[in-house]
Amino acid sequence: MSDKQQTIQSVLSEKRVFAPSEQFVRSARLNADKLAALHAAAAKDHVGFWTDLARKEISWQTPFTKTLDDSQAPNYTWFADGKLNASANCLDRHLATRGNKLAIRFEGEKGDVQLYTYQQLHAEVCKLANALKSLGITKGDRVVIYMPMVAEAVMAMQACARIGAVHSIVFGGFSAGSLRDRIDDAGAKLLITADGGHRAGNIVDLKKAVDEALSEGCKSIGNVLVLRRTGHKVGFQEGRDIWWHDLVPKQSDRCEPEWVDAEHPLFLLYTSGSTGKPKGIQHCTGGYLLGATVSSQWVFDLREDDVFWCTADIGWITGHSYVCYGPLANGATIMMYEGAPTVPDAGRFWKIAQEHGVTIFYTAPTAIRALMKLGDDWPKKYDLSKLRLLGSVGEPINPEAWMWYHTVIGQEKLPIVDTWWQTETGAIMISPIPGAVPTKPGSCTKPLPGIAVEVVDESGEIIKDNDVGGYLVVTKPWPSMLRTIWGDNDRYIKTYWGQFGNKYYVAGDSTHRDADGYYWIMGRIDDVLNVSGHRLGTMEIESALVSHPAVAEAAVVGRPHEVKGESVFAFVICRGERPIGAEAEKLAKELRDHVGREIGALAKPDDIRFAENLPKTRSGKIMRRLLRSIAKGEAITQDVSTLENPAIVAQLAGKA
Ligand code: WT7
Repeated sequence: MSDKQQTIQSVLSEKRVFAPSEQFVRSARLNADKLAALHAAAAKDHVGFWTDLARKEISWQTPFTKTLDDSQAPNYTWFADGKLNASANCLDRHLATRGNKLAIRFEGEKGDVQLYTYQQLHAEVCKLANALKSLGITKGDRVVIYMPMVAEAVMAMQACARIGAVHSIVFGGFSAGSLRDRIDDAGAKLLITADGGHRAGNIVDLKKAVDEALSEGCKSIGNVLVLRRTGHKVGFQEGRDIWWHDLVPKQSDRCEPEWVDAEHPLFLLYTSGSTGKPKGIQHCTGGYLLGATVSSQWVFDLREDDVFWCTADIGWITGHSYVCYGPLANGATIMMYEGAPTVPDAGRFWKIAQEHGVTIFYTAPTAIRALMKLGDDWPKKYDLSKLRLLGSVGEPINPEAWMWYHTVIGQEKLPIVDTWWQTETGAIMISPIPGAVPTKPGSCTKPLPGIAVEVVDESGEIIKDNDVGGYLVVTKPWPSMLRTIWGDNDRYIKTYWGQFGNKYYVAGDSTHRDADGYYWIMGRIDDVLNVSGHRLGTMEIESALVSHPAVAEAAVVGRPHEVKGESVFAFVICRGERPIGAEAEKLAKELRDHVGREIGALAKPDDIRFAENLPKTRSGKIMRRLLRSIAKGEAITQDVSTLENPAIVAQLAGKA
């Protein structure tokens, strides 16, 4: 059985259904009737549905008069003649009613706690926004943020939004080289960073990576604003580098928001695709903010008295929409934690949940599996009674992990929302509504109101029946959709729309829709890996490998992994003789470190296998399916007779 068939098998045999508890339904924002009404309104008038929500949920400085413009499809615009400011929506509009309420609860790995009310956060963001202005940053300029998971990172996002600058966050785990590529592609003028961050008892030396990145290229960068976080000694280039504490505190705590068009870019976020070059996903202000705002209400049942803990780093889209913009736009309290989940022990997450009174907990299956492995005793030590909702995101959640989450963390009564979406979609697309939709372990259930999802076959025909499989597509534009790929609109059209004649947004995932119309995501259809919920292109890792002088050729595939979901498996062909024994081990270590330096530790291959050649068809194509089977250690059932070099299979399989 192939990978996919096996998954489908286990999915089809999953028959458990969990209805929302009566207690939850009673006070839920959306019960089944209210949800049905929303679906009906959206089905009747897609554009009208979003128009009403945009008027109600967003504070506009200038109201919009036109909702959707599809004249340049698939480049859509929403609310284009409206003006707003994302930071004013997240901060200013709460000041009158909840200025003294906590906006951020932050805890560092060492246990240091910082609390910011909306009033205080507003003041800090204004000061930082004025600091950015003093450095010559104006509307439309790109600002790269390369920071640890600290409250100041959210301030940096908000400050950019406040003055109409476009932030582009680079995850702190990415290397100097990845940082440089993203700075150059975005043409960023300013880099906001920290001397370092705390992780698993170590210091993540962000400033060192910054100095390395800026040592060549990055000519667009004028200044580097450096937050002192760890206090360890770092390089400092006078004239270019500025300490946050020298510049920010002396600024005025008032800064009038820059009113921007709804379509004004709010941020870029680079993500991997099937080529070697990451793409700068461009999100706009109005539509994105609407998506983040309403999905937070619907999916997380979010209220202002919630303490919402989304464990994602702000370097990923989840951190954008559900650490920063969604919860703050709704006036909730966000929980941020800087460090590793197992420091000082495996109970850290649950201790934080108890001490900060976390009510909503949103994390990735890889984290759930890792926590599950640490045993039930850890969560049992803590009082998790404030928790009222659990969420999952980033990859399919296996039913076993779902059941553990449900039983041990959820005490068999909390709703679990398994949320499917992507960097490109900006906000959650398919997810249970906790007070309305019964859940099934492993299924993200059904699309949200106003989100038109379908399954299509190989030829792009929509399959209306249930109990079918195919490609997942979105058939109608939605407000929080990406607007383009920064600097490459052709690639935007080709990547997301080209496959079926620009008719549908092609998500890149395959899916099964069961007899009840529930969606079960099966995984990517392109050369994209999902390692611990992080998206990596196989081509990026291959390019990193071949940039090492010893490597002639490399092919990278994913291998199922108990905790990470998928791990990186690399087949490597060397320039000289194939290394064996101790020599092979030494080179494998060197290559792992090399990939770490080129991309970041998250991309390091777990397995490296050296061979004399790759399995190629006579037309020179690498047979990746075969490599995937080999990586899994499966018996080879594929027909290898079409290979140019069938004898290589045994060697690739490690048998020669
Ligand atoms: C890809 C997008 C958007 C949040 C973080 C990832 C996979 C995401 C689920 C889920 C099954 C999921 C898909 C998708 N994915 N959520 N609930 N069930 N698969 O964002 O890095 O843009 O990756 O993650 O394959 O296409 P991303």
